[in-house]
Amino acid sequence: MNPVNQLILSATQLLPRSVVKRFAMRYIAGEKLDDAVRVVRAINLKGMMATMDVLGENVSTREESLAAVRECEEVLHSIQKNHLDANLSIKLTQFGLKMDEEFCYSNVKRLLEIASGYNNFVRVDMEDSSTTSATLKLYERLRFDGLANMGVVIQANMRRSMEDIQRLIPMKANIRLCKGAYLEPDSIALKNREEIRFRYLKLLRMLLEGKCYVGIATHDDFLIGSAEQYIQEMNLAKSDYEFQMLHGVRTKLRDQIVAHGHRLRVYVPFGQYWYAYSIRRFKENPQIARYVFQAIFSGS
Ligand code: FDA
Repeated sequence: MNPVNQLILSATQLLPRSVVKRFAMRYIAGEKLDDAVRVVRAINLKGMMATMDVLGENVSTREESLAAVRECEEVLHSIQKNHLDANLSIKLTQFGLKMDEEFCYSNVKRLLEIASGYNNFVRVDMEDSSTTSATLKLYERLRFDGLANMGVVIQANMRRSMEDIQRLIPMKANIRLCKGAYLEPDSIALKNREEIRFRYLKLLRMLLEGKCYVGIATHDDFLIGSAEQYIQEMNLAKSDYEFQMLHGVRTKLRDQIVAHGHRLRVYVPFGQYWYAYSIRRFKENPQIARYVFQAIFSGS
């Protein structure tokens, strides 16, 4: 990140939460489940699917994890009750991955069983590199135990991802492919934008040729255009893949993808722990931090 952006971002982190919140709400459905249900309804009306995420990560007590499990259960019940076209995305550090893997396993298993009762699906987000191996291990274990209604995420910037997908393809894993949102050391992650794009497309091709269902998660025109080309070349059915985008990001592009006849899912985060998520979005796109800052000092 260039030093000016770094400075603006650091300054943004010093702003009152109420100010950050005003801007954050562009990316977050709200603090309550009802807010998220309203947003998902509107998304569904536009012919798009959604995935709902209860914000929160890196919890440090079992009580917090169990509270997060209960909130996710509510989301699954609510999707069913409100006839929403949506599934659930979760982060394993919210369910105790760093405290006790066995505890985390049983928490996720419970959610998968509830989702399965509703014929629904749970996506395990990928967090920073300290969790990659444990996340994939837990995914493989749950699949081995017969729980098929789940998918994982592969980050194209991670050097290990090629090897990871070679193991996941024979399992016909359902994979969301993204660039990777976390700042990682050069030794384990690609840094160059073009190199990441090239790797993304290589991984995408491998997954599609390997007949894995792929969630093509990006707002990058170049990647979306290339993906559309692969889809055409490989003569894929609409049910073989979906595009995925974050709530509040490039909504016109979203509409275009749907107008091209593809399925698209919007990631809808909500909940009380909106601050950490917002700061991560600001880090990805320091232009937003600039807007926040300018607005404060122009009094708008
Ligand atoms: P890029 O960052 O190049 O963005 C392309 C264009 O989109 C930008 O030029 C800008 O116009 C616009 N844009 C992108 N981000 C924006 C923003 N925040 N605000 C406004 N405009 C923006 N990562 C991860 O590590 N683990 C995960 O589990 C997930 N899950 C996930 C789900 C979904 C549905 C998406 C879309 C993304 C993720 N990610 C993720 C995040 C992902 O790794 C990546 O950091 C972002 O998608 C940004 O990369 P793009 O491919 O969009 O390209």
